[in-house]
Amino acid sequence: MTWRASVLTLFPGMFPGPLGQSLAGRGLDDGLWSLQAQDIRAVATDRHRKVDDTPFGGGAGMVMRPDIVDAALALVADERPAIYLTPRGRPLTQARIRDLAAGPGVVLLCGRFEGVDERVIAARALEEISIGDYVLSGGEPAALVLLDACVRLLPGVMGAADSAGEESFSPGPWAGLLEYPHYTRPAEWQGRTVPDVLLSGHHGAIATWRLAEAQRITRERRPDLWAAYHQAHAAAVASPPPAP
Ligand code: ADE
Repeated sequence: MTWRASVLTLFPGMFPGPLGQSLAGRGLDDGLWSLQAQDIRAVATDRHRKVDDTPFGGGAGMVMRPDIVDAALALVADERPAIYLTPRGRPLTQARIRDLAAGPGVVLLCGRFEGVDERVIAARALEEISIGDYVLSGGEPAALVLLDACVRLLPGVMGAADSAGEESFSPGPWAGLLEYPHYTRPAEWQGRTVPDVLLSGHHGAIATWRLAEAQRITRERRPDLWAAYHQAHAAAVASPPPAP
């Protein structure tokens, strides 16, 4: 069964964009997933095809009208989860991506202007998701991020090019750790060498080195992830996390 994505946007030309390339693009061509970019403006009926209006209560910017957004959703809505991409949403996680990829697909609403009238969010029970604590000019790049993360998990999209078992945010031995450093040929480049252990052929020693490096990098860069990892693996971790 094809995994189906519908995106409601004022800029349908932004899709598939980068998802038309590489593995996601091949998966799209092969029918492993489908993408429908629905122009929200297509449902605007007035002469000027207005989709937004000034906010009640005053203030800067424009708000997308509930009747317009509802009519656009009515064109595509079905049993798939309907998601509104907004910086005030719950943070996107790999766990949510896994669940979405395992389902029938997604309906994504991309906002522009100051946002979307609250009533259509409530009426359609939209799930609000953020891709991070920064503000984009619209939800489209966030929709592309969410779709990319889902599509690479679909059966047949990645092939053997990737092992989901060795990922930072997936269950397994590397759960909760950032990636260890990678090296390839040449063995010496601009005077920089490769750690001896990786050339030693000792698989046990290599695994131990990689785990220690993943732990060091996580401890240095992500105290939040390190604290959670340390709690889950207290016995296996050499040093305690640094004091806050
Ligand atoms: N729209 C604008 N900024 C966003 C963000 N950080 N995440 C999701 N949607 C957005």
